Amino acid sequence: MIVILDFGSQYTQLIARRVREANVFCEIHPFNHPLEKIKKSNPSGIILSGSPSSVTDRKAPKPDPKIFGLGIPILGVCYGLQVMVDHFGGKVEKAPRREYGPANIEVRNAEPLFSGLPKKLPVWMSHGDAAKSLPKNFSSLARTDNAPYAAIADMGRRLFAVQFHPEVHHTPLGKQIINNFLFRVCNEKADWTMASFAEEEIKRVRALVGEEKILLALSGGVDSSVAAALLHRAIGKNLICVFVNNGLLRHGEEERVRKVFGKEKGYVTYIVDARKRFLTKLKGVTEPERKRKIIGHEFIAVFDEYAKKFQGVKFLGQGTLYPDVIESVSVKGPSAVIKTHHNVGGLPAKMKMSLVEPLRFLFKDEVRALGKQLGLPEEVLLRQPFPGPGLAVRVLGDITEEKLRMVREADRIVEEEVRAGGLYHNLWQAFAVFLPVNSVGVMGDERTYENAIAVRAVNSVDAMTADWARIPYDVLGKISSRIINEVRGINRVVYDISSKPPATIEWE
Ligand code: XMP
Repeated sequence: MIVILDFGSQYTQLIARRVREANVFCEIHPFNHPLEKIKKSNPSGIILSGSPSSVTDRKAPKPDPKIFGLGIPILGVCYGLQVMVDHFGGKVEKAPRREYGPANIEVRNAEPLFSGLPKKLPVWMSHGDAAKSLPKNFSSLARTDNAPYAAIADMGRRLFAVQFHPEVHHTPLGKQIINNFLFRVCNEKADWTMASFAEEEIKRVRALVGEEKILLALSGGVDSSVAAALLHRAIGKNLICVFVNNGLLRHGEEERVRKVFGKEKGYVTYIVDARKRFLTKLKGVTEPERKRKIIGHEFIAVFDEYAKKFQGVKFLGQGTLYPDVIESVSVKGPSAVIKTHHNVGGLPAKMKMSLVEPLRFLFKDEVRALGKQLGLPEEVLLRQPFPGPGLAVRVLGDITEEKLRMVREADRIVEEEVRAGGLYHNLWQAFAVFLPVNSVGVMGDERTYENAIAVRAVNSVDAMTADWARIPYDVLGKISSRIINEVRGINRVVYDISSKPPATIEWE
């Protein structure tokens, strides 16, 4: 495996992606990951990421200097190059101006890092500092017009570094540079696949848990479903899944969970009907953040009570993904709370159980591939995201059973028509929002004075930004006429044409 030390670059995850795409396993750790732990992982190579920092600053993040003496090959990327040069006594200086954007490098010494690549190739630069002089035993492998040290190496110690970013798409041949490091320098084998990952993780869980039981909060979403499938492979009936119906779920959610994780499939799954509890707690509450907090707390309370039925269970299963893990360890500045997210992540602090997180090293699309490997149906794996607080944040203002019925029915129609139009898998999300405003309409010869539904559909890659989707008018037309005809209490449908930012995807 490969260890990637993260100095805070926005591209660190991309380095991990490239390594995994080469079928080599890797883990990202913070830059100051202890030497002992690195040694224990027994990596065949270490990659130092980029960083917004400058090595010339006193407070610059630095790795344990002993990593350079482990005899393990290292590849420094951008800031990683500067850390290496600085450590070995070379000179790093602030460049007169930041170099940002495309550049062409000229390779002078191809083997092994640039093996099989053309002599000149386009790369992506994004740095302020640059190496001014190289340490002893280092030589330049490639140069640009303004920088003599676009790539450097100490061949004897197998230390390599590049000033550009081979992990980004703007360095078209970057993947091959990374592969050369993996296969020609570190002698890695391309043998990491989803099947091998599943096998190893199943073995690990068995060894960890033995004859004990694992309790898992199953939401029906992709992450907890794949976690359930994997843990079930590992320990069968010793996995206890708990699905809480909070009354804020989409149409047919409980049935879907019964079908996929029911007795017939060999699962031990408890379905908790907590609809009344949640609705009672939410009664009269209109403020979005309060709704979110109440739902988060109530979920923990329900789950905690339920867990008491299984006293002696020592393990709590969780579908935590890699980005969540990285975000919690990475060098990130404080940011304002826009919305309090409700995930089952709040559970373990309260419950004195050991965590089992079988997906903690996977990215979202890898989780889907794993789910497929484990035989989960597409209807589970290819679902659009759904917020933890559910329909509560899609009923504006106070929540009643009647309003939930309307938004749930409308949401089902949106999903059906978006699927029928062949759009479901191309949209990040498409859903209905209940608006507590009354407007006048006419149905037959009758005057109506009823509520409105907003239809929201967005394109996005990571939910951080989103654009409203240009859905064909005829699909919108069908959605509108079906909602008005089929959902009692709605006489008007509007389409949300705001992007994020400045709006958010959910309305609350
Ligand atoms: P916003 O509304 O902040 O949503 O633009 C971004 C994405 O996150 C989803 N979302 C949540 N997901 N727990 C979750 O797991 C939550 O509390 C939550 N709130 C919003 C939302 O559906 C969108 O995909």
